[in-house]
Amino acid sequence: MSEVRFRIDPGGALSGEVRVPGDKSISHRSIMLGSLADGMTRVRGFLEGEDSLATLAAFRAMGVHIEGPEHGQVSVHGVGLRGLRAPDGPLNLGNSGTSMRLLAGLLAGQSFDTVLTGDTSLSGRPMRRVTEPLMQMGARIDTTPRGTAPLHIHGNCRLHGIEYGMPVASAQVKSSLLLAGLYAQGTTCVAEPAPTRDHTERMLAGMGYPLSRSGARACVSGGGRLQAIEIDIPADISSAAFFLVGASIAPGSDLLLRHVGMNPTRTGVIDILQRMGARIEVSRERDAGGEPVADLRVRHAELHGIEIPAQLVPLAIDEFPAVFVAAACATGRTRLTGAAELRVKESDRIQVMADGLQRLGVQARPTPDGMLIEGGPLGSARVDSHGDHRIAMAFAMAALRAAGPVEITDCANVSTSFPGFVELARAAGLQIGPGG
Ligand code: S3P
Repeated sequence: MSEVRFRIDPGGALSGEVRVPGDKSISHRSIMLGSLADGMTRVRGFLEGEDSLATLAAFRAMGVHIEGPEHGQVSVHGVGLRGLRAPDGPLNLGNSGTSMRLLAGLLAGQSFDTVLTGDTSLSGRPMRRVTEPLMQMGARIDTTPRGTAPLHIHGNCRLHGIEYGMPVASAQVKSSLLLAGLYAQGTTCVAEPAPTRDHTERMLAGMGYPLSRSGARACVSGGGRLQAIEIDIPADISSAAFFLVGASIAPGSDLLLRHVGMNPTRTGVIDILQRMGARIEVSRERDAGGEPVADLRVRHAELHGIEIPAQLVPLAIDEFPAVFVAAACATGRTRLTGAAELRVKESDRIQVMADGLQRLGVQARPTPDGMLIEGGPLGSARVDSHGDHRIAMAFAMAALRAAGPVEITDCANVSTSFPGFVELARAAGLQIGPGG
């Protein structure tokens, strides 16, 4: 397969109306919980990206009848909490950390063994953060000696509830343990050091599963049931973020982003950009099946550098590649600290972003847990996305302010979270096409 590259001519502005694809986190959970529910869960707005499709394929391989996706519509014929069947072989989850970490918890409570594999990036990511607490619950999971995939999850383990204080603020770890908790004797409680996305808790509650939440702690007890529901998935704020940044940095931009998920555990990027001086107006705030959504109008603004408040880090954890581009186009210095987690995402997002920004002539200094960026003019360069979808899309937007063409290599994984990115961005005004 030939390598996917983007080439973006400099300049231009973003305008018109855009609806970005469905939320990735909610799409994963709609398949997982829909499969475990009693009855048929109908999903609209499902993200037809490789990550959520990997989750869908995994549940099909475990005997769940799933219709679609067709134009974002999926019907999941739930098999109940005890209805999954042993798959014929390993479940390959591609690039998707969410699939692997959440499935590790869910599969720890089954009566059959499973093996979870992934691509090179996923096979290098830390899994002990889920396997260790799951083993405290009584699970048996083998990893490589480095604590990475493939994961071999042994069936027929008796799980019991634990009280777990997470050392890192991770929605994937929290969700993994809560899913294992559905199969555990007694109560499983997970406390988080800072608020993280709560889509699992919302969907469990929406499906009628008893769940208690107080402050930083969420608890479930085993032995309940899930009822099928209708799920209307909003547009992914993490995908909208590239357009929020692009329109903010490109003079003359005026863009409307429709039906964007506005869950308060996800809106850190809006907060950060507004602190930098961005002009983002929120309108038509409403509820879509238990998740808040709104339309966002974003216009060009002169941005200025800021100290990014530490409490916003988990609320914008996937948006830092885009935020770094905003910082590069801002006046003055932006400092990010407390974000060491960025080093273990789909790539080391601190190093890879710093390398690319430097190639574009920006003063970007990586630190162990963040970055220092001095805003300034952007040149023309070829940058390597290291197969990281969000890095590729962030640098694509940087071209709006570059002095010459920007070429981005290793972009195939953009389709893990944002199928159709090139077409949508081009329709909005980005001068993007395939690279040579
Ligand atoms: C996700 C949680 C986050 C995020 C990832 C999706 C989820 O990971 O980076 O893209 O759906 O739960 P962490 O929980 O590891 O921060």
